[in-house]
Amino acid sequence: MTTPVSERQSPETPVDELIPSVDEAPGSRPVAWPHRHLLDVDALTIDEIETVMRTADAMRQVLARPIPKVPALRGRSVTILFYEASTRTRVSFEVGAKNLSADVVNIAAATSSVAKGESLVDTVRTIEALGADILVIRHPVSGAPYLAASVFGGSVVNGGDGWHAHPTQALLDLYTMRQRLPRGSVAGRKVVILGDVLHSRVARSNVWALTAAGADVWLCGPPTLLRGFDAWARAGAGGRRFTVTSSVVDALRDADVVMALRIQKERMTGGLLPSLREYATRYGLTRERLSLARPDAIVMHPGPMNEGVEIAPAVATGAQSVIADQVANGVAIRMALLYLLAGART
Ligand code: CP
Repeated sequence: MTTPVSERQSPETPVDELIPSVDEAPGSRPVAWPHRHLLDVDALTIDEIETVMRTADAMRQVLARPIPKVPALRGRSVTILFYEASTRTRVSFEVGAKNLSADVVNIAAATSSVAKGESLVDTVRTIEALGADILVIRHPVSGAPYLAASVFGGSVVNGGDGWHAHPTQALLDLYTMRQRLPRGSVAGRKVVILGDVLHSRVARSNVWALTAAGADVWLCGPPTLLRGFDAWARAGAGGRRFTVTSSVVDALRDADVVMALRIQKERMTGGLLPSLREYATRYGLTRERLSLARPDAIVMHPGPMNEGVEIAPAVATGAQSVIADQVANGVAIRMALLYLLAGART
């Protein structure tokens, strides 16, 4: 029988001994981490997602130590290149990489040579010449991390690109659901993603991750903020099904998880919403609406929040909210991904 990670840990235990090998995991086949990059979750099999979850379990054990630092990435350099604002993703990658003893370089595009007109390709080549092994990139243009990966010699991690993908957010969301739901599984659970789905890279990556894990996924919002998702749902991409609706009542009834999404005012063009007030009135996650869900439903939000618009302050900070857990789990998930990518077979 496999010894649980928590029972094998001692303060001196190297992190790779904390992580159960795939051989030890009941029911899974042995796999080494096969991906050089993490660009979206659609590239991951369910076994690989499971490996990320179990590696994050081990990283949480590291984070529980008095000094949460291990030598796993000593001598490796992680560069964090963000062309968009961020608090959670940028800081958790930095904290996680430092916990793994990597050398960390932070570049904000606005104060780099990007402001002088340097192209993405030249910037990535420059970062490689400066010694980066892993590049974490956020960019407002969908697909930018794929371009970066095509010219970078190390590993690229997508920290969010345009409307397209936010894979590390989806993985930390799945991790948080498994942590907080009874029996630790999302299989068969009704997970509602409510809000500005149209502009949400979080929603798109969560559709991949959650349907792979067997959740009953519902996307809900005003029709203008769901454009294109009906067609995706009907196509059943990869054999996966999810429900798209503008009925908040249908979506929230008996939900196990309700994830509110930020209204992305900065991406809102063309009169998609009459007003934020009308949105809040018709779709905001209030206590009354949350009462349609199961009494033990959990409330999530990837952040940053517009409190009083997509989520009422009392719900954001209420007993059912696991929003702070999402942020904390972001460190463990990003440590797990950096660790796996650093050992990837390429
Ligand atoms: N959820 C998320 O990506 O938050 P930040 O923009 O603060 O990184």
